[in-house]
Amino acid sequence: MDNNKITVSVIKADVGGLCGHTLAPEDLLEACEGVLEEAVDELIIDYYVTRCGDDVDLIMTHKMGVDNEKIHKLAWNAFEEATKIAKELKLYGAGQDLLAECFSGNVRGLGPGCAEMEFVERPSEPIVVFCCDKTDPAAFNLPLYKIFADPFNTAGLVFDPSMTSGFAFEVHDVIGSKKVILNTPEETYSLLALIGDVERYAIKRVYRRRDNEIAAVVSTEKLNYIAGEYVGKDDPVAVVRAQSGFPAVGEILEPFANPHFVAGWMRGSHWGPLMPVGEEDATPSRFDGPARIMALGFQLADGMLIGPNDLFADKGFDKAREKALEMADIIRRMGPFQPHRLPSGMMEYTTVPKVLEKLKDRFEPLDDEPKKLEKCRDRGDVE
Ligand code: 13P
Ligand code: 13P
Ligand code: MG
Ligand code: MG
Repeated sequence: MDNNKITVSVIKADVGGLCGHTLAPEDLLEACEGVLEEAVDELIIDYYVTRCGDDVDLIMTHKMGVDNEKIHKLAWNAFEEATKIAKELKLYGAGQDLLAECFSGNVRGLGPGCAEMEFVERPSEPIVVFCCDKTDPAAFNLPLYKIFADPFNTAGLVFDPSMTSGFAFEVHDVIGSKKVILNTPEETYSLLALIGDVERYAIKRVYRRRDNEIAAVVSTEKLNYIAGEYVGKDDPVAVVRAQSGFPAVGEILEPFANPHFVAGWMRGSHWGPLMPVGEEDATPSRFDGPARIMALGFQLADGMLIGPNDLFADKGFDKAREKALEMADIIRRMGPFQPHRLPSGMMEYTTVPKVLEKLKDRFEPLDDEPKKLEKCRDRGDVE
């Protein structure tokens, strides 16, 4: 453990909604704050607790490094306390993301999502913490590409000499449990070939190539594969470092001015727009959505979290919200048809196999048209 280094850990879980999957009420945030408050000075330096929809986000700073058992146990305890309240209040899906009976080692694989990075705090260390609901980690593929590899988004890629050597993207194959690092700008096309497939690939980390400094990290836990059955979308969080050799705060926010379609929304089974919102508006309800993303800006001061500045509350994002709602109207018209509905491999909650099981004896073979063609070919009637 390098004591010069600060770790930012953002750990999130859905432990119950008021009502349905819409919102984590204040009582749950207070329960988490109670647990984290007791750990200040002992384990953590500072914390901020918030929620996006039904997901509770614990933003913590400390000096224990990433994947630290004590920090993860602390988050687990906070979620357990909140779950007790959620159960008392009979909130919907109480304890939804705490899949294990007990904590073991770290929260990865147990249900909660986590995004953590360790670095030496710069003289001024601005960071942006993104929290989402009703979508999945690959929702960050497009914006992270734009932030760190698209000069039309990020002027700094052209103008800031410490960024011109580009960024390295650590891409996870979340189905095959493999990872690969791709360097931009020269491997841009290979990177896009992978991350454009949001079913399989998710960006986990981004590094600045000049000095290998960590620039961004995303939670990529896939609840559906962990639990083996639908237990809610793995609504992600991410941390991005800003300014002085990293993209400016405004460059980090810019991709969200033009909302993109992400997987999630109702029953984790639909495409829909990702709407940037302030903390007050992170309250998805229409068709359980549309998917939300909040951006909280902090300055670190010796690990203290100064802020947040609720960045998407800016009027500059009003038009993005309007556009997102128009996109929502357009795609909602498709109802249960693709492309509103996700392809079956991406649906996190489907009864289609049960429908098929019920109908299996009623299926009849189609006329064998291809065989007819083969016969004609044998006779030399067709090429
Ligand atoms: P300031 O001149 O306000 O520091 O802004 C520089 C910058 O990076 C704007 O994106
Ligand atoms: P969450 O993943 O936010 O719990 O939502 C699940 C769902 O079914 C929404 O309709
Ligand atoms: Mg939920
Ligand atoms: Mg959620």
